[in-house]
Amino acid sequence: MADTRRMLVTGGAGFIGANFVHDAVENSDANLVVLDALTYAGNVARLEPVVGSPRLAFVHGDIVDRELVDRLLAAHDIDTIVHFAAESHVDRSIHAPEAFIRTNVLGTHVLLEAERSRWLGTGFPTSGRDPRFHHVSTDEVYGSLAGDASPSVESDPYAPNSPYSASKAGSDHLVRAYHHTYELPVTTSHCSNNFGPYQFPEKLIPLVITRGLQGRALPVYGDGRHRRDWLYVKDHVQGIRLVLECGRVGNTYNIGGEHEWANIDLVRFLCRTIDVAFEREPSLAERFPDAPPAGGGACADLITFVDDRPGHDRRYSLNISQAREELGYAPEPDIERALAHTVDWYLAHEDWWRGVLDGSYRAWVEKNYGTELT
Ligand code: NAD
Ligand code: TYD
Repeated sequence: MADTRRMLVTGGAGFIGANFVHDAVENSDANLVVLDALTYAGNVARLEPVVGSPRLAFVHGDIVDRELVDRLLAAHDIDTIVHFAAESHVDRSIHAPEAFIRTNVLGTHVLLEAERSRWLGTGFPTSGRDPRFHHVSTDEVYGSLAGDASPSVESDPYAPNSPYSASKAGSDHLVRAYHHTYELPVTTSHCSNNFGPYQFPEKLIPLVITRGLQGRALPVYGDGRHRRDWLYVKDHVQGIRLVLECGRVGNTYNIGGEHEWANIDLVRFLCRTIDVAFEREPSLAERFPDAPPAGGGACADLITFVDDRPGHDRRYSLNISQAREELGYAPEPDIERALAHTVDWYLAHEDWWRGVLDGSYRAWVEKNYGTELT
């Protein structure tokens, strides 16, 4: 419990950011200011488990707002920025890329500029801690890998293929340039596809679980043989903590799960896990009467192959040797167990995901935070 950093966590009401905040409140002495614009993907109810902590403050605001960012850095004497805020869904970036450029590229630039003028100017943190800007990026910047290609290493060239990954690549280059040019103390991590508690049900794993429980079609793009490296969000949080604690300034770390699955195999596994849960717990049939196992069927009957995503990357895979050897990073070896925990979490938190799907979680926000957050 020796970590007494004063952190600004951007996007801390998002899926990964909130998991990071839970961990930091529970396992460190850090003071945290969450800055989040509460877009459709942001949900302050994710912070419910830690909402009473005196070490946590929430600010509803936009990272593009330079004045606000300057004010927060000064008022809270921030020494560490952990930057999660982003538009994060590839499918949305294909239909409406502008928000991705604004938040991911311009927003990151605003944070870097604010940090540059404060940390390299007169306002160096008084905490005595070395300042740090940690940027959370993605494996998607390396582009699509051939089936037999080696997993991506940190020195691989960039080849982003979607508006989302191009905007993340743009932000990565800015972070790199601010270190190279101004010696800003930065680190960057590239993670693979996360899953776990509190993920918005537009992403594959929570989408399959929540739609399966409602007896709705499970859309699998193209031939379903696209491969992703799946990372339990708790492992990702552990990886970021290690980078903050012992990562080399200016360096970049891959943080993956080393669990590469074809989408269709993953979807089938989740379907089987739901079926087994219904066998184990007969009362689930009453709670979810439209789920196929409630009527003696199989969840996999809902799988529906649909048109492929335009420009759909075939494969991502990360080589995590550097993080393993240099930081002692070690992801969960038993992904099936982590996936089963995740299914159980969604079974136990039906109110949460139904509230996200119908928007009613905003009432929780008003009740807990008053008008400030509406
Ligand atoms: P998310 O979409 O769940 O959360 C993003 C959060 O950022 C939301 O709370 C949203 O309200 C907030 N936000 C968006 N625009 C903002 C703005 N202009 N100002 C302030 N806040 C804003 O995303 P996530 O899955 O938690 O991803 C977090 C980070 O990890 C992102 O940078 C993403 O690119 C990266 N990443 C995610 C994955 C994954 O599998 N989820 C994989 C690789 C990289
Ligand atoms: P997604 O969760 O959107 O993450 P990303 O595009 O960042 O990898 O998708 C994971 C994989 O699942 C990807 O190959 C697209 C595929 N997919 C489907 O087949 N059906 C779906 O409904 C979704 C959302 C994704």
